[in-house]
Amino acid sequence: MKSVLILNGPNLNLLGTRQPEVYGSETLAMVEERCRSHGETLGLAVTCVQSNHEGVLLDQIHAAKGRHHGIVLNAGAYTHTSVALMDAIYSVEIPTVEVHLSNIHSRESFRHTSYISRAAIGQICGFGSFGYLMALEALKQRFSGSEPE
Ligand code: DQA
Repeated sequence: MKSVLILNGPNLNLLGTRQPEVYGSETLAMVEERCRSHGETLGLAVTCVQSNHEGVLLDQIHAAKGRHHGIVLNAGAYTHTSVALMDAIYSVEIPTVEVHLSNIHSRESFRHTSYISRAAIGQICGFGSFGYLMALEALKQRFSGSEPE
């Protein structure tokens, strides 16, 4: 069975109460539960981790090598600043889908730049928590080798 790490970065532990008009009213626990359940229907083992610390996120990406076949990453604000997270994704060579709840391209200009995008196989944003489920679908396609080149 293929295994996927769902990694959430800073402030995403506050989902449900943090700017619900932007990020929705579901808590992170609810989002993670939906991911695990959708993973089950796709035949994927899903592990969920959240951290507010860039170094912990780096450690999680490094530790994913040999343990997980894919990563779904919402790096929060580190998306727009972290060359280190981009380098980590390049280093482990694990297919990574970048996810954002909000449409970062329709927001402030500083959110339009994503370092993660350079290393990710694709980006999904603007669909709320459904984006995580879409990312699992994308990885499933990738694992079965039938994704478009
Ligand atoms: C976010 C978008 C980021 O710009 C922001 O800093 C976040 C959440 C999103 O999911 O929409 O923390 O990654």
